[in-house]
Amino acid sequence: MGNISLNFDKTLGFVSNETISSFKDELQKHNEALHNKTGKGNDFLGWVNLPSSIEDTFLADVEASVEKIKNKNIDIFVVVGIGGSYLGAKAVIDALSDNFSQFKNNGNPHVIFAGQNISEDYLYELRELLKNREYAMTVISKSGTTTEPALAFRALKQDIEEKYGKEEAAERIIAVTDAERGALRELATKEGYKTYVIPDDVGGRFSVLTPVGLVAIGMAGFNIREFVKGAQDMEVATAPNVPFEENLAAQYAAVRNALYNDGKSIEILVNYNPKLHYIAEWWKQLYGESEGKEGKGIFPAAVDFSSDLHSMGQYIQEGERKLFETVISVDKVDREIIIEEDADNLDKLNYLAGKRVDHVNKMAELGTTIAHVDGGVPNMQIQLPQINEYYLGQLLYFFEKACGLSGYVLDVNPFDQPGVEAYKKNMFALLEKPGFEEETKAIKARI
Ligand code: PA5
Repeated sequence: MGNISLNFDKTLGFVSNETISSFKDELQKHNEALHNKTGKGNDFLGWVNLPSSIEDTFLADVEASVEKIKNKNIDIFVVVGIGGSYLGAKAVIDALSDNFSQFKNNGNPHVIFAGQNISEDYLYELRELLKNREYAMTVISKSGTTTEPALAFRALKQDIEEKYGKEEAAERIIAVTDAERGALRELATKEGYKTYVIPDDVGGRFSVLTPVGLVAIGMAGFNIREFVKGAQDMEVATAPNVPFEENLAAQYAAVRNALYNDGKSIEILVNYNPKLHYIAEWWKQLYGESEGKEGKGIFPAAVDFSSDLHSMGQYIQEGERKLFETVISVDKVDREIIIEEDADNLDKLNYLAGKRVDHVNKMAELGTTIAHVDGGVPNMQIQLPQINEYYLGQLLYFFEKACGLSGYVLDVNPFDQPGVEAYKKNMFALLEKPGFEEETKAIKARI
């Protein structure tokens, strides 16, 4: 089936091959540390061998749960979750879906999201929408205590129980949470929801290959077995026994760190296909939360080209020279449009007649890459043969593996996120949550 590939030729005018290769031995040690669970954050390394440990019976169970809910003839499936309990499913579903899927019926429910913000308008409008629809939902929270999804689920649970009755509502809710701990586990047990477990040793942003991602991806009609297969193949392709010269994850980690040491502290993930927008959002969380600590870390940014060439293109071409780009380049698109001859040719586009729109997109990509490299922005390319379940499985596992390696090169613990607590503490203090009395007093004195 082939593999995704990495091309970093267009970084070599900025950092040398020798500099990149100088990370080789260190990366070998880090890769072994990931697999042997001897590095920093080693209680959160369940994702490393996760693809190969996924059993057929588990996949069959997820498929059966999906079928059972689909048989209720729902048109909407709501996924309640935030951060790592949201972005993976959103990224994969968007990448695989028709751009206008919300206006079309392909026989599968529309998967929509809740609890990923605290917008009152969003929740109100969602509840209004659901009043006249047939729906079911999954609520996902590893900790089971995250405010955003808990708040949304409290309202949506009331609505679904009102609409279908408590017993039928329980048949329409799947809870994905910790095996034992947390408020959501307690609630799911009390209400008798079908539940799936997020393994203890898999952090949120590394959880797309657990039920966190798989339930929603399956519900949207996509092949979770192919997705897992892609990840399994990439697990093998990036294992410690694969030499640096063939190991994409090690190479990506090496190039990023070589560029970072050379002052390139912002990485922009670029796509030329709007379906990949949320892959970049998922990637931003993965790298931002894993590397951004102890005053260190490459800042992960993203653009959708060519749209953003008309907004961000100027800065990338001529702004501060701290940037490098990583392009997710898709070889084969799914559809075909040939540009037609026009008798009047007022738009002067006849020179393109007979060519595909994708050809124009690819020339935009090539032209932009060359321009940005000329402007001082090193460029890497991740080549995706096609956007399908299999290659997305490869891509997401590749990014996870490279992230673990890259974080170890930076000498941080890539698997914690202590900084996320600061806003929560202030929010709870301002909301006067019981137990936060001291913090409330302190923060009120500052405002
Ligand atoms: O990566 C992470 O750990 C976070 O982004 C979490 O996924 C996010 O905060 C949601 O947490 P939870 O699943 O516990 O509700």
